[in-house]
Amino acid sequence: MIRLLAALLAWMAVESAALAQAPALVRHGEATQLVVNGDPYLILGGELSNSAASSPAYMAPVWPKLEQMGLNTVLAPVSWQLIEPQEGRFDFSTVNALLEGARAHHLHLVLLWFGAWKNSMSSYVPSWVKRDERRLPRAELSNGSGEEILSAFSSNVLNADSRAFAALMAHLRTVDSADHTVLMIQVENEIGMLPTARDHSPAANHAFASPVPPALTRYLAAHRNTLVRSLRQRWEANGSRMAGSWEQLFGPGTATEEIFTAWYYARYADVVARSGKQQYDLPMYANVALNRPGKAPGEYPSGGPLPHLIDIWKAGAPALDMLSPDIYFRNFTSIAADYDRPDNPLFIPEQGRATVDELMANAFFAFGEHKAIGYSPFDIDDFSGDRAGTRRQGYGILDALTPMMLKAQSAGTIRAAKPAVTFDGTIDDKPQQITLGSYRFTIGFIDPWTPRDQQHPEDHVAMLIQTGPEDYWVAGRGAVLTSEPVGAGPRIAGIDVDWEQKLEGGKWSDLRLLNGDETNQGRHIRLPPGEFTVQRFRLYRYR
Ligand code: DGJ
Repeated sequence: MIRLLAALLAWMAVESAALAQAPALVRHGEATQLVVNGDPYLILGGELSNSAASSPAYMAPVWPKLEQMGLNTVLAPVSWQLIEPQEGRFDFSTVNALLEGARAHHLHLVLLWFGAWKNSMSSYVPSWVKRDERRLPRAELSNGSGEEILSAFSSNVLNADSRAFAALMAHLRTVDSADHTVLMIQVENEIGMLPTARDHSPAANHAFASPVPPALTRYLAAHRNTLVRSLRQRWEANGSRMAGSWEQLFGPGTATEEIFTAWYYARYADVVARSGKQQYDLPMYANVALNRPGKAPGEYPSGGPLPHLIDIWKAGAPALDMLSPDIYFRNFTSIAADYDRPDNPLFIPEQGRATVDELMANAFFAFGEHKAIGYSPFDIDDFSGDRAGTRRQGYGILDALTPMMLKAQSAGTIRAAKPAVTFDGTIDDKPQQITLGSYRFTIGFIDPWTPRDQQHPEDHVAMLIQTGPEDYWVAGRGAVLTSEPVGAGPRIAGIDVDWEQKLEGGKWSDLRLLNGDETNQGRHIRLPPGEFTVQRFRLYRYR
């Protein structure tokens, strides 16, 4: 009896410790996962349009819609302008309204700190900041004219931004450290410099004329073999120097000005993140506005955590847990690959400018092929009708598969494939091969039984999870899988059984035993185009 009581108490202690623990990123086997209340978690998210969260009245009819769409997490801005209307006097009513709305609708939040940066502008800063450019200076063009972008080279700007952010995090610790409604924090929004590659204010000019900080050269030397190729080439072409000016290390030109900008933006974001973490230690990330090919820094927001600058940001902002791409271009699969690195779990805070069908296929792909911790289309409050329905269907399946996906992410037994699309929209719908366990799968994306002109291969996807030596689950649409054994032994793979799955009340059960026409008499596993479907199948081998 006493032993039982002791065991119970020990179990309760472990439970309450897990509950009290703030959300964190934790390495589990092959994947880094977001752990919430002791369990790994996948963010099936959606980001609100920019101004929605400023108004509880606007949000009132939106919350139930978000819940019905099957989201589990909403990404919502917190505006510096609204929380610190007067210097040093904070008003967290908009934040509290977000917490109430989310909790009432069983949703989590990722809060986005719209501080000094909002898309390479400073439009979300309070009036007392906007109107005091002497104390809180702007970035400048080379002709001395100011911009509506605060200067990252001003310690007054950095202190004011960090203080407000720290106050927000202290508030969250007070009101949410027991509930953990808030899972993560985005630091600033799409930091970047426009329309020139760098700030030309006196402080920025002084920094540009000064030596490259040793912390950066030490990072370059320590990570030489894994540096993004263009950065490594630029540094090595200039002699792999460990000391010198920015131009001595990286050569003259706007590419070097952008590296300089990236370093100082990263250092700025690092201080802001650190000041917040000191109050309440949640995972934090910076999002990035990606660059169009062929454009020069300044024509696109210069110096953000762009693919070619990831290492500069990793070196300059170790307090950030992730650098996360906002994907509005068609080449989703290649961008996802750039941001899936051993030092950077993939999280996609925004995706847009694609059909909802393509968005959902990309979600399956990101979770399956890149072990993403979360995915979140932009402008979620604007989804309705069919678009909301497709999302509900896709997220419903992902939600019900989540326990299996999380286990497989950490075991390295999950993969996914979808046709790659290039920046200019060219779709590569050739079959792809994936090896998982002891079978190699060839996945075709053109359905043999549907007229070609009714198919959109960019919306097709297959996510494969191995659950035993010969057992697999597959989820997706518009994919036809054939398989062959790898390694020694019989050379031919056959389908032993293939069960179509039914989802009811969040639980899977076998619906139909697929055979005959559905598997082309045992020749393949087929996920029809259209709705997402799920099958579990077992293979066998013969000679
Ligand atoms: C990316 C930004 O991060 C969002 O806040 C929003 O401005 C979208 N672009 C609009 O497309």
